[in-house]
Amino acid sequence: MARTPLIAGNWKMHLNHLEAIQLVQQLTYHLEPRDYDASEIVVIPPFTALRSIQTLIENDRLDLVLGAQNCHWEDGGAFTGEISPPMLAKLKVAYVLCGHSERRALFGETDEIVNRKVRAVLAAGMTPILCVGETLEQREAGDAETVVRGQLAGSLEGVGAEQVTGMVVAYEPVWAIGTGRTATSTDANDMCGAVRAALGERFTGAAAEGVRVQYGGSVKPGNVAELMRQPEIDGALVGGASLDAEDFAVICRHHRL
Ligand code: 13P
Repeated sequence: MARTPLIAGNWKMHLNHLEAIQLVQQLTYHLEPRDYDASEIVVIPPFTALRSIQTLIENDRLDLVLGAQNCHWEDGGAFTGEISPPMLAKLKVAYVLCGHSERRALFGETDEIVNRKVRAVLAAGMTPILCVGETLEQREAGDAETVVRGQLAGSLEGVGAEQVTGMVVAYEPVWAIGTGRTATSTDANDMCGAVRAALGERFTGAAAEGVRVQYGGSVKPGNVAELMRQPEIDGALVGGASLDAEDFAVICRHHRL
């Protein structure tokens, strides 16, 4: 089955809403219809810029898709400081990152919490981008695949096969995030393949075939083409390089490289 590649820029805690608008304007200046045809292109700004970017996308009829970096699992309530899935859906947010390694490591998100978020995002009609990946220590101990399988099992508890089709999983080895150290294209391809195999065992082969598995971790203009040529890699989740309009545009033009 042909899966449309998904190129997503996770801006993390960078850019105020005015800087965010400027980045989208510069990015879209560098992209052509064939780039949007070749991949789905997603920007994932901080919450404070979502409304501005949504308005820009609508007014200028941009082909960009909007994502959010996190959410709470409840639809509403006394949860000071949190943002609910229906609030994001109302802003035409299509994708929500669930379980990014920074949230797991810095904000105590366990597989159980990630699971609640995944289910809440699905219930609100959006698509989770479920992030998984091993630490350097785990990789060196030969446990990379076991760790990732465990994260998938825990985060997808209670999710049905029909919901899994259409979901996105981002394989992001923790040691490759923000370090300039990318997984080799072979290792990245093998791990993305292992993700799909695990999904196939847990759900159905057909459901797993529909899931897009992205690679993330120091994706740059210089390595994107090689990564995207791998059969198991269906896209890129880009941090640092997505903050530079020209670099991210090159990444979005991977099919022309
Ligand atoms: P970098 O591209 O900066 O390594 O970040 C990857 C990432 O965490 C995307 O979610």
